Amino acid sequence: RPDLRVAILGCGTVGTQVVRLLTEQARDLGARIGRGLRVTGVLVRDVEAPRDPSLPRELLTTDAAALVADADLVVELLGGTTTARDLVLASLRAGASVVTANKALLATAGPELYAAADAAGVDLLFEAAVAGAVPVVRGVRESLAGDRVERVLGIVNGTTNYILDEMTTRGLDFDVALAQAQELGYAEADPTADVEGHDAAAKAAILASLAFHTRVALGDVACEGITAVTADDIAAAREAGGVVKLLAVAERVSSGDQGAEAVSVRVNPVILPAAHPLAGVGGAYNAVVVETEAAGRLMFYGQGAGGAPTASAVLGDVVAALRHRAHGGRAPAESAHAALPLATPADV
Ligand code: NDP
Ligand code: HSE
Repeated sequence: RPDLRVAILGCGTVGTQVVRLLTEQARDLGARIGRGLRVTGVLVRDVEAPRDPSLPRELLTTDAAALVADADLVVELLGGTTTARDLVLASLRAGASVVTANKALLATAGPELYAAADAAGVDLLFEAAVAGAVPVVRGVRESLAGDRVERVLGIVNGTTNYILDEMTTRGLDFDVALAQAQELGYAEADPTADVEGHDAAAKAAILASLAFHTRVALGDVACEGITAVTADDIAAAREAGGVVKLLAVAERVSSGDQGAEAVSVRVNPVILPAAHPLAGVGGAYNAVVVETEAAGRLMFYGQGAGGAPTASAVLGDVVAALRHRAHGGRAPAESAHAALPLATPADV
């Protein structure tokens, strides 16, 4: 049987690692999938730009249309919500499965993309979009599908956790710590999304949608980032025996006079007591605590940003999607059936 064709859109921090691992490990991955695979091309803006020497340069292309028209699987690692949206939709409509790490895209255009995937009967997988290498999307979407989630709270942005940690433990200035986070490949192309909390809010919207089987979009999340956190705030927190962390929280709340259920989702900096399970999460690590009715409290923890850790999550989805292409089956479709309303600020 012919090899499965994989098109990669984007060859930056994450795409470079995905292409490297996919080409280096194609044989092993093919054995795990039960069928061979082949990278057909890698979309970039500039094919002449300097790149990691390990990259097979002959795969680079600027011809997006040709790439998505001839693929079993399209892996979207561009970022942004315009070109990425158009190409993901074109891929799904052409019958290709899609794997993406793009939380901003899912939190703004998710329902349109899920509908296109459902119409084509193909996978739309996005483990890497929340908490990098940490398998929290699959955990909430699949492992906890039979339980009732009460609350999800976590550190889901590596850049801001790195900045706060460097300010706390080494006394670094905000700007210096941010520059280091960019250098290490943790930050978004425009780090405003990280430091203003929008990246964490997008991830909180995705997690809340999965956990509560409802639809939460980026604009539904109350959001405050870390740009107003000062060295004095951090010192005061430490004197009080705590540590400043940017937390994402999604929870069931009672809403209105009748006490009907609603979902509240927010992102903001908080002072955590040193003994809290999230207080010791350092560097660009992420951790998500999920509280459920039957399982009780679970904690997902690991590297939340960076090329290789994120590539691990992308490749897990690549294997899952290609197994379905080779042998049939499909990952869970969107499960937004409960339609829990969003809480108004007065309810929270
Ligand atoms: P980069 O900015 O490093 O890479 C983006 C890549 O996409 C580049 O290769 C760029 O081409 C290409 N590209 C962008 N726009 C276009 C376009 N219009 N046409 C053709 N090519 C284009 O981003 P990252 O690798 O850091 O992130 C990629 C995605 O993964 C984002 O959605 C991000 O949010 C997500 N993500 C990132 C993580 C991280 O730790 N960095 C972790 C988890 C998710 P060129 O090289 O020519 O400029
Ligand atoms: N910029 C993001 C972060 C990348 O720092 O968490 C991982 O999603």
